[in-house]
Amino acid sequence: MINAKEFIEESINEIKDTLDNEKAISACSGGVDSTTTTFLMSKAIGENLITVFIDDGLRREGEPEFVVKTLKDLGIKVRLVDAKEEFFETLKGKIDAEEKRKAFRDKFYKTLGKIAREEKVKFIAQGTIKADVVETVKGIKTQHNVLEQIGINSKTYGYSIIEPLKELYKPDVRMVARELGLPTEVSERMPFPGPALSIRVLGEVTSEKIVIVRKATEIVEEETKNLGTFQNFAVLHNDKATGIKNGERVYGNIITVRVVVSEDAVTARAKQVPYEILEKISERITNEIPSVVRCLYDVTHKPPATIEFE
Ligand code: XMP
Repeated sequence: MINAKEFIEESINEIKDTLDNEKAISACSGGVDSTTTTFLMSKAIGENLITVFIDDGLRREGEPEFVVKTLKDLGIKVRLVDAKEEFFETLKGKIDAEEKRKAFRDKFYKTLGKIAREEKVKFIAQGTIKADVVETVKGIKTQHNVLEQIGINSKTYGYSIIEPLKELYKPDVRMVARELGLPTEVSERMPFPGPALSIRVLGEVTSEKIVIVRKATEIVEEETKNLGTFQNFAVLHNDKATGIKNGERVYGNIITVRVVVSEDAVTARAKQVPYEILEKISERITNEIPSVVRCLYDVTHKPPATIEFE
């Protein structure tokens, strides 16, 4: 465990030294890591910080509005960048999980590069944490925000990267967020992957499939919010199954629900969710999303599974 107060002081000094009065961009997704990074950056460089939220069309219900409001309440102005079409275009036709992750990462950094050129900024801050680096370097998966540690020079995208949290694990980040006085909706926020719902639509991502998984995610989050678990979500499968809707046999979508307990995301256990809750989720998902005919629950721990499906 770190001393959060000391970490904040040292980190602010380090950011000031690195930037030396230069401007920087912080890309904030609203998660605990990127919001803590943004707030630290704002404390360190004030008006020299330009905060952006990239709307890639892959976020959860209400997320862009949540981010804008949360940052506004913290006194931070945010520029909303609409990149929805570009992200769907880049993901079009891609089925393989790693290929999708790499396409997302490339589009993400190119979008940031474009913003950096527009704003004439040479530094970008991001909320990479230790677990992101460890898993990407080990080759478990391509974390969207890890570049330098695997030998990709961010300067090829036109800027340098600052990662104030890269030595911290999730529980430490939460301590720093609390010490900074961030609201509990941020400091205790459930982790959400950078590539967002794109890795929860198995196989090719389309805007129609994102609508389905977004609604299922909303239902799962609502019904499991009091479980105190680490991550709760829905995944849309790439194949279909037979079911009955309105008295007719149909070939429809399959959703898997995943609820896990974990400290730091490095290992995780599937939660023994009360059966009544699972039944309610299944009923709601199959009733409220017409194309879904089947709802499954994943009982696999990490390892051997990972938390996300892709
Ligand atoms: P896995 O699926 O590897 O996930 O067990 C571990 C944790 O990391 C999150 N995750 C990501 N977070 N960018 C992120 O910022 C990513 O590319 C990414 N992929 C997975 C995942 O949700 C879990 O909390």
